[in-house]
Amino acid sequence: MTAKIIDGKAFATDVRARVAKHVTMIKDESGITPGLAVVLVGEDPASQVYVRNKHASTIEVGMNSYEHRLDADTSEETLLALIDQLNNDPNVHGILCQLPLPDHLNEELVINSIIPSKDVDGFHISNVGMLSTGQKSMVPCTPLGCLMMLRDHHGSLSGLNAVVVGRSNIVGKPMANLLLRDSCTVTIAHSRTKNIEELCRAADIVVAAVGRPEMITGDWIGKGATVIDVGINRIPHPEKEGKSKLVGDVHFASASEVAGAITPVPGGVGPMTIACLLANTLTACCRTHGLTEPEGLTA
Ligand code: GUN
Repeated sequence: MTAKIIDGKAFATDVRARVAKHVTMIKDESGITPGLAVVLVGEDPASQVYVRNKHASTIEVGMNSYEHRLDADTSEETLLALIDQLNNDPNVHGILCQLPLPDHLNEELVINSIIPSKDVDGFHISNVGMLSTGQKSMVPCTPLGCLMMLRDHHGSLSGLNAVVVGRSNIVGKPMANLLLRDSCTVTIAHSRTKNIEELCRAADIVVAAVGRPEMITGDWIGKGATVIDVGINRIPHPEKEGKSKLVGDVHFASASEVAGAITPVPGGVGPMTIACLLANTLTACCRTHGLTEPEGLTA
């Protein structure tokens, strides 16, 4: 069997186009332009790339982008004052504070200082609680992107066995809650799980979010299963000395021989994350102003 490749890049292009269309519609109808504020503290090179991409994508779909770059030694007081200002700014509908923050800043405190209605990352404790109790909330972007691709591939997810490998607050736990809400039977597996390979083999859906390059090989995957690979790991290139390459948490070559469908790395889940950030900003704007929410772009 050779798996169908789930093209996250094409899917994300379609999501961004749908966001752009809805943005145009609400601008025409209400004169309101959704706005996203991104806060970056320090000079982490990977974070700088993410923030640049987020800015460009936000502009591209017709939204306003507000970038705030602060020095690495910014005090907690200064950062909280900026977030307070953004919380109260009517032009800002979504706020994202790029993680990781420098060590002297308390990440939990900072995240929980963003008002839940503008928390487009879905990391605020109130959004986490609402998601886990099945209430309408802002949903973390990466799991939302995975859910959209799974719904598109399967139609209904009801009754399917899903194994989420990884228990992070950003991906594993919200992913499990979203799958549960769509009536999957969900197992969260992690580094201490016994018989992890067997559990994965019995699953209709495997979501890999462990951050370990190519850990999940083809013999872990059941015939015809759907594999969503959240991992983005840079490893030394096996053939080109001095070069590196990106791989997922799944060993693509072997897994794609048994799976029914699989996301590649790069070009799978990655592009969906920013597309879902834009979708979340639009959703936040619509909820704030009582406008029609975009269809198919929320959980
Ligand atoms: N850093 C890496 N991924 C993310 C993300 O999804 N949100 C935020 N705020 N920071 C990140």
